[in-house]
Amino acid sequence: MKGVILAGGLATRLRPLTLVTNKHLLPVYNKPMIYYPMEMMRKVGMKEVLLITSGEHVGDFANLLKSGDEFDMRLYYAIQQNPTGGISDALKLAEEFAHHEPLLVILGDNIFNFDLQKSIDRFERFLEKDKRAAMVFGVHRDTEARQYGVIEMDDKGKVLSIEEKPEKPRSDIAQTGIYLYDHRVFDFVRELKPSARGQLEVTDLNNVYLKEKSLMCEVIDWWVDAGTSHDELLAANLQVAERVKQGKL
Ligand code: DAU
Repeated sequence: MKGVILAGGLATRLRPLTLVTNKHLLPVYNKPMIYYPMEMMRKVGMKEVLLITSGEHVGDFANLLKSGDEFDMRLYYAIQQNPTGGISDALKLAEEFAHHEPLLVILGDNIFNFDLQKSIDRFERFLEKDKRAAMVFGVHRDTEARQYGVIEMDDKGKVLSIEEKPEKPRSDIAQTGIYLYDHRVFDFVRELKPSARGQLEVTDLNNVYLKEKSLMCEVIDWWVDAGTSHDELLAANLQVAERVKQGKL
């Protein structure tokens, strides 16, 4: 398995903080935001990780993260030409790097601390048995689920639908930015069409797996998307500080 971290986008929702700085380099408590997904990759033993960002900021990431040695990995860099092409558009850049292996994808503004290794083990068992698998992770959100992908599940944990930022969410489960895909992901991404907002959506990709009944979903209990608004960034800082002091992160 190989790791991919996405750190592109324009982060217009966080301006003026992001006018000259990439969002993922902003501080969250005592570290740059990008350290959190990097540390998670290290925790699950990912030895090769590709970081995808815009041409404008790739040099900043290289200055900060260098070869990846500090995180016990070999770090590679790729430039997404259109930094707002969408998450699935960025994933296309990982095809050669993946070399037919499955992928762990983490969005660069996501912070969490559940036992991801256990989920990877479960994914790999399924993949070995069925030869096809993808996994998404959801989290209960009260009112603001509609700013995310929304996952509808039955009471046995089976995914019924995933919708991107729906007007009327069918559940309170937000789709996080953590994904596991088998090697066919690149074939699926090639078939996607841009959404109404002009992006190749990760939700459309996940729906391909859902349709062929190979999609699994796990619900986790704590997760922050530090990059959606100034309030979320502030909340991320406060929650991370609290968790670090409690020894939970
Ligand atoms: O954070 C979880 C949410 O991420 C999911 O619930 C949604 O289903 C998913 O579509 C995505 O939502 P956003 O539209 O809020 O994603 P955002 O534009 O904030 O981008 C997420 C991350 O991906 C961010 O770290 C930047 C990176 N990115 C984004 C785009 C559009 C790229 O690297 N390239 C891109 O083209």
